[in-house]
Amino acid sequence: MAHEALFSPLKLGALTLPNRVLMAPLTRCRAEDGHVPGPLMADYYAQRASAGLIIAEATMAIEGNSAFWREPGIYSQAQVEGWKRVTDAVHAKGGRIALQIWHGGRACHPLLNDGATPVAPSPIAITNGQVMTPQGMQPYVTPRELRDDELPGIVAGFAAAARNAKAAGFDMIELHGANGYLIDEFLRDGSNRRSGPYGGPIEHRARLLFEILRASVDVWGADRVGLRISPLNSYNSMRDSDPVGLTAWLAAALNDLGLAYLHVMRADFFQEQKADVMTPARAQFSNGLIGNMGYGTAEADAAIRDGKLDAVAFGASFLANPDLPARIAANAPLNAPKPETFYTQGPEGYTDYPAMP
Ligand code: PHB
Repeated sequence: MAHEALFSPLKLGALTLPNRVLMAPLTRCRAEDGHVPGPLMADYYAQRASAGLIIAEATMAIEGNSAFWREPGIYSQAQVEGWKRVTDAVHAKGGRIALQIWHGGRACHPLLNDGATPVAPSPIAITNGQVMTPQGMQPYVTPRELRDDELPGIVAGFAAAARNAKAAGFDMIELHGANGYLIDEFLRDGSNRRSGPYGGPIEHRARLLFEILRASVDVWGADRVGLRISPLNSYNSMRDSDPVGLTAWLAAALNDLGLAYLHVMRADFFQEQKADVMTPARAQFSNGLIGNMGYGTAEADAAIRDGKLDAVAFGASFLANPDLPARIAANAPLNAPKPETFYTQGPEGYTDYPAMP
């Protein structure tokens, strides 16, 4: 078998994964009306059940915070039932699936949320991209600054989402602390200009994250909760003055909770911010470390063999290859992803990528 380290089992928190080829969370915008996962999503995830762990796409914790047209939610009973179809389909094929729970923060748009202005730690708009809406691509708007007294409601919304994810049959949850959405907006100092308990030093900027983590751990136990971060990614106009220090501080602070894993996006979509955040993450964090972004299979295998990482999450290649672990094991060629169908509707470019003959 090629790439043996990728195919050694891994204990990740409470789960034992049969391989270390994980499926990264991927926004695909295929939910039905009401942000409800339908049968098409169940097919898509079931096709990918051979992943060591599927981390399902960013899913709205709290109603009214849509940042992508047709992303799923986990706040309504219909959504819980829709996700139950997905988790049942994955489990029937012997797989394991975590739900990624998020709040879109300033990346939400009034056209996706009945005219509501998005909220954020500070009133600073995203300027390096646009948002997809039913009326085409639109510029982001300036968000409203959240008051400190609104934050307990957000923590409670995440707690309810964590309970709903349990009812929907997931094996774990991952908190989305990456890519310029609400948790990340608090963490990084380019988007968080607050004073008071939630702004200023990293101990304060991480307060909301830790309140959400503790509420999630109360529901699931720490060994079924993970966190994803992207300290370098400038997507969504994100910046931090000290991404390596932020990573090291967070990785060390997370040990007190005993989380199952830390999932680190190691790079920047736009290649503007460059540093090594994997080494400090590994040095400080005691439990599972998942790497993501641009790992080829040989590099992923070597990183695991050398103890730099425990597992690698593959995004575009898992999207395009439902049987990615088998292909890697066989050194078989991979289907190429088709970016033009990443965020469209229906099965095209979603459930029609072929498995190996
Ligand atoms: C994310 O959820 O982090 C995300 C979603 C879609 C993108 C990039 C990032 O295009």
